[in-house]
Amino acid sequence: MATKTLCIKTYGCQMNVYDSARMADVLAPLGYATTDDPADADMVILNTCHIREKAAEKVFSELGRLRQMRAAREARGGGRTILGVAGCVAQAEGEEILARAPFVDLVLGPQTYHRLPEMIARLSRAGTAQLDTDFPVDAKFDHLPAAGARGPAAFLSIQEGCDKFCTFCVVPYTRGAEYSRPVADVLAEARALAAAGTVEVTLLGQNVNAYHGDAPDGTVWGLGRLIRALAEIDGITRIRYTTSHPRDVDDDLIAAHAEVPALMPFLHLPVQSGADRILKAMNRGHDADAYRRIVDRLRTARPDLALSSDFIVGFPGETAAEAQATLDLVDTIGFVQAYSFKYSVRPGTPAATMPGQVPEPEKAARLAALQDRLNAQQVAFNRRSEGLEMDVLFDRLGKHPGQLVGRSPFMQPVHVDAPEGVLGTVRRVVIDQGRPNSLSGRLIDDADDTTHPAQAVGARS
Ligand code: 5AD
Ligand code: SF4
Repeated sequence: MATKTLCIKTYGCQMNVYDSARMADVLAPLGYATTDDPADADMVILNTCHIREKAAEKVFSELGRLRQMRAAREARGGGRTILGVAGCVAQAEGEEILARAPFVDLVLGPQTYHRLPEMIARLSRAGTAQLDTDFPVDAKFDHLPAAGARGPAAFLSIQEGCDKFCTFCVVPYTRGAEYSRPVADVLAEARALAAAGTVEVTLLGQNVNAYHGDAPDGTVWGLGRLIRALAEIDGITRIRYTTSHPRDVDDDLIAAHAEVPALMPFLHLPVQSGADRILKAMNRGHDADAYRRIVDRLRTARPDLALSSDFIVGFPGETAAEAQATLDLVDTIGFVQAYSFKYSVRPGTPAATMPGQVPEPEKAARLAALQDRLNAQQVAFNRRSEGLEMDVLFDRLGKHPGQLVGRSPFMQPVHVDAPEGVLGTVRRVVIDQGRPNSLSGRLIDDADDTTHPAQAVGARS
């Protein structure tokens, strides 16, 4: 029975979204029910992301606001709110957080949230702030309770960490070395999700296709093999994975795209740049042609595959011609969506001290040119969808009464007018309109608008 409230504010990647859900799972047996309102919560946890610029500064200003909220709550006669910082900023800045914000109660890294109950117990016994940013040898996954219902479309973390050391990136320092969960654990979690109504799983990892999990038969499975096994689970009809690295796209994974119908025809495959010299300076381990060849092979396997990517413009030393090479790559590949960033310094990473830092106005101009092309490709894809039929998994209510929102196989949000009973099911939809960021359409077969109640709950918002 829930007696206390917990507010987790999540920043950054889907891995953090997953981690927040698992922290809530860990704290539920202690009587914590989740709320979106930090003002009256018994515990507030910031699950932070270190990848964006000035990430730590933003956390400190948010903590300042929470401190005032806590004081106001106490003044109203509410209890004392426990304040926690989790995630990658906590990992990177642990001691610094306690020094600069001594009013914080808990600081924990991404590898230790299974120890939250213990930390809370120590906090209440000792009354002093608790810090745990170890990379423990005992994997946290072994200590987590079974997953609860997480809605029709759920994340499933299978791999963490990264050994690639791209020269611009903090992840190898904050998330540590690569680790793959054992096959049996992943399959058990997927079966539990399916039993609770999940139909789509998105496999998560910083380097998800580097997956190499120990299997019960004594062999090591790659991602392709794991996907084939997941596709056999009753109820799981859609599988996605993110984020991938071009270097780890192997033959079996490509074959899985051809052979496993449940594997959705959408792939987020960051390329970062189209210029070979920059890719080398980034330590990406592939050149532009290698990326093109991988995409060709994937599209041979799955001709309707839609691609998304990450780009960085203005990496140190990038010339105008090299920025142009990135635009050329975008033109030849064609993306249906993408994330693009100006290079920004992350202290402690090799690129931070490289010569030839690109002036801000130049970075802004290169980003604008890149985003123009990417946006045009996205809009063109959405327009081309008009008149097409596709299967849509409906997983949340829309903003307007009577409206539901789902995901197309290619990841676009799809809006339709439909009864709530359609939530949690995959339906055939004809697309009427392709807008810049979403599609809208009509259900083709709405003969059966009822669904198993277990599938209708817990829609992701
Ligand atoms: N500057 C700009 N973008 C970055 N990313 C990671 N580090 C940096 C940085 N220092 C981007 C990359 C990565 C995405 C998650 O964030 O494109 O793929
Ligand atoms: Fe960062 Fe590169 Fe690892 Fe991705 S592959 S998490 S960009 S170091």
